[in-house]
Amino acid sequence: MIRQDTIDSAIKTLFDGIEFTKKPEGLYDPLRYMISIGGKRLRPKLCLTTYSLYKNKISPGVLEPAAGLEVFHSFTLIHDDIMDRSPLRRGVDTVWKKWDGDTAILSGDVMCIDSYSRIMKAPRKVQGEVLELFSKTAAEVCEGQQFDMEFESRDDVPMEEYMNMIGLKTGVLIACSAKMGALIAGASKEDCDNLYDYGFNLGLAFQVADDFLDAYGDEKVFGKPIGGDIVNSKKSWLTIRAMEKASDSQKKDLLKAMAMPVLSSEEKTAKITCVKSLYDTLGVTSDAQRTILDLNDKALESAAKVCSGVRYERLRRFADRLIGRTK
Ligand code: IPE
Ligand code: IPE
Ligand code: MG
Ligand code: MG
Ligand code: MG
Repeated sequence: MIRQDTIDSAIKTLFDGIEFTKKPEGLYDPLRYMISIGGKRLRPKLCLTTYSLYKNKISPGVLEPAAGLEVFHSFTLIHDDIMDRSPLRRGVDTVWKKWDGDTAILSGDVMCIDSYSRIMKAPRKVQGEVLELFSKTAAEVCEGQQFDMEFESRDDVPMEEYMNMIGLKTGVLIACSAKMGALIAGASKEDCDNLYDYGFNLGLAFQVADDFLDAYGDEKVFGKPIGGDIVNSKKSWLTIRAMEKASDSQKKDLLKAMAMPVLSSEEKTAKITCVKSLYDTLGVTSDAQRTILDLNDKALESAAKVCSGVRYERLRRFADRLIGRTK
């Protein structure tokens, strides 16, 4: 098994040294910007983590695809920030805010293409499988993002549909990252599938935590504006759960609060306060915490089918850090 500190330093070296085409700068600078402002690098870390269960040494054949996962993720964030009207990401201006919307679209496009050329560098033996997994995942992320947008104007989204949506927009890429590391390491089909399930449930837990932090996190740590989902009337896990628990009159109050105007910063603050006080009355934040733990347990059940001892511990520790996130 590869040591944890070896994985951590490989990730650092990988992104410190990552190169993008130089010209035109207007196209490629946003790519350099997105990678240089960091982020948790969760997906490449997970890919190297599952790879490390089977191997004793990191090879270039896993590093480039791992980088491809992060580049693809960062591309989805550039476009997501346009769609979500978000001005802040990783504590700094989003690409559309720093440059403009058109730049964010085109730089995002080329970033997606760049991710493919890195994924292609998987060892020849598994290249076809890796590409197929990645392409299916990439299309599913778009499907999830479309559902997410459609939910903005719907008041009747059931929890089941919501969970399906976050599975697509967030779960599948984390699942794909876990599976890709194992695939490249030459793991059995059964292990690959169990690691996919491990990543998928972790991904669901991760998005529920993201929705929670969007309303209750610390902006300085989270790096995104607190209350952004509420201001933009996004359907978050908290909204869906609140609608499930609310009485008829509380439902009306919630819908009224979600429709409050947000033209000035005072109006935004008033809307956030009003919606959060309904969440508090309904006790949805403790429900979110319980759901995160349940999903984590489910992920670990899949992990336990793959390995035990120090290897299982590595997967458990990864999950622990992910669900205990504050950023
Ligand atoms: C943000 O992902 C988008 C979601 C799926 C919630 P991350 O929270 O992994 O973002 P970075 O890469 O660390 O900034
Ligand atoms: C993001 O969901 C999912 C993808 C980028 C595919 P969010 O819209 O909740 O992510 P943040 O909160 O902007 O990071
Ligand atoms: Mg979004
Ligand atoms: Mg967003
Ligand atoms: Mg979010």
